[in-house]
Amino acid sequence: MDVFRIEGPVRLSGRVAVNGSKNAALPIMAAAILAEGRSSLAGVPRLSDVRVFGDLLQTLGCRVERDADGRLEIDATVIDNPVGDYEIVRKMRASVCILGPLLARYGRAEVSMPGGCAIGDRPINLHVRGLQELGATIHLKNGYVIAEAPDGLRGASIFLGGSFGSTVLGTANIMMAATLAKGRTVIESAACEPEISDLANCLNEMGARISGIGSPRLAIEGVPRLHPVRYEVIPDRIEAGTFMVAAAITRGELKLVNCRLDDMMAVVDKLRSVGVAVEPDESGCTVAGAEHIRPTDVTTQPYPGFPTDLQAQLMALLALAEGNSVVIEKIFPDRFMHVAELNRMAADLRKEGPAVIVAGVKNLVAAPVMASDLRASAALVLAGMAAEGTTIINRVYHIDRGYERIEERLNPLGAKIYREDTPAP
Ligand code: EPU
Repeated sequence: MDVFRIEGPVRLSGRVAVNGSKNAALPIMAAAILAEGRSSLAGVPRLSDVRVFGDLLQTLGCRVERDADGRLEIDATVIDNPVGDYEIVRKMRASVCILGPLLARYGRAEVSMPGGCAIGDRPINLHVRGLQELGATIHLKNGYVIAEAPDGLRGASIFLGGSFGSTVLGTANIMMAATLAKGRTVIESAACEPEISDLANCLNEMGARISGIGSPRLAIEGVPRLHPVRYEVIPDRIEAGTFMVAAAITRGELKLVNCRLDDMMAVVDKLRSVGVAVEPDESGCTVAGAEHIRPTDVTTQPYPGFPTDLQAQLMALLALAEGNSVVIEKIFPDRFMHVAELNRMAADLRKEGPAVIVAGVKNLVAAPVMASDLRASAALVLAGMAAEGTTIINRVYHIDRGYERIEERLNPLGAKIYREDTPAP
C-alpha cells in the first residue's frame, strides 16, 4: 500500500494548472447514459474515482475509453444491465447518481444502497423522495434500491431541501431524471453548486430544456430524447482551493491557471481575511502566503458559502494562525477525522460537537499519520509540507481518489513528497 514521505518545511513557488472537476465530471459521466450513442468529454481528471465510475458504466453495458487526446469517450448505445453493483457502489458513493438517468432511459434501476463513510451517514432519502414524486415506485431489497417507472416519469414540483440544506447529487439525480419526464418539473431548494450548473449546461447541450441554472429553482421541460454530446467539464474549485492553501501554508507564491475565481468567492474572501494575497489575472490568479496568518471563524455552507470540501485544508492553515479560530461544519457535522491526526503533528485543535476550536501554534511537527478520507488527507499533505521533519502519510489511496498524482504536481513547485510502497501488514 502506498504511503507518502513528506520532508518539510518547504516554500512553494511556480505555476500550476488546475485539472477538471471531479465532482462535475462524475455526474456528467452519468448523464451520458441518457443518450444513445457516443459522448465525448474533455477535462475529465485521471482519478481513481473516475476509473471506478467508468467501471460502473461498463457494467451497465456502456463502453468507456480514453482517446488519444485524453478525452473520455462513453458509448451508451447499449444499456442492458441497469444494476449498480454493491462491489462498486461501496467504493464510491457518487455511484448513486446513475439512479436518475437509468430510470429515465431504461424505466428501471437497481442500485446498491450506499453505506456511511468516513465523513458521516450520508442518507439518500431526498434522492428517493424526488424520484417518487416523478412517479417512480421505489423499494429496498437485499440492500438494493429498486426503482421502477415502466410507463415513464412525469414532471412534478419537488422541494429538495433537507435538514442540512440542499443536496448536490440529489439535485443531479432528479434533474437528470426530469429531462426525459413527460411535462414540466420544478425543483425548489436545488443545489446551486457550480458542478450542478455544469451538469445542467451539459444536459442542455444534449437537448434538455433546463432553466434557472445556478439558482435554487430549476425548471425542466421534459423532452422525448437526448443526443450524445461533446463537452468540457469546468476546472476543479476544490483542487484550486487546495493549491491556494498550499501557497499560504508554505508562505510561498503560486500562479494558478485554469481556475475560475468566480466559483470561489467565499474561499478567496476567507483566505484574504487571514492575510493571504489572491490576485486575479486573465487565466486564474496568483496566491501569496503571509509571514503571519490571522485567526478567523468559518462555517461551511452550501454554495455560495464556504465549501465543506475545503474545511480540512483551511483548518491545517488556521492551525498555524496567530490566535484562536473556530471552524463550524454545517454540511457533514462529523467530518473531522483530520482533527486527531493534525493534533499528532502538534496542532492544538479541540472538537466541540460540529465545531472545532483551533488554537494557533507556532510550528507543526512531522509525525506518522493516517489518511481517512479524501479532503482530510489533503489537509495532512498541506500540514506535512509546513511541518518540521519527515511526515509519513499512510493510506494515500484516499488522496488519489480526488487529486491526480498530487506529488508530481507539487514537487516541481518545491515540495518534497515521495510515494513509497510499503508491504501490507
Ligand atoms: N443529505 C440528506 N439526504 C439526502 C442527501 C443528502 O440528508 O438524500 C444530507 C447529507 O447527509 C449532508 C447534506 O445533505 O448532510 C449535503 O449532502 P449532499 O447530498 O449535498 O452531498 P453529496 O451530493 O453526496 C457532494 C460531493 C461531496 C461534497 C458534498 C457537499 C460529489 C461526488 N460529492 O456529495 O464531495 O462534500 O456534495 O458539497 O459531488 C468530496 O469531493 O470530497 C466530497 C465528499
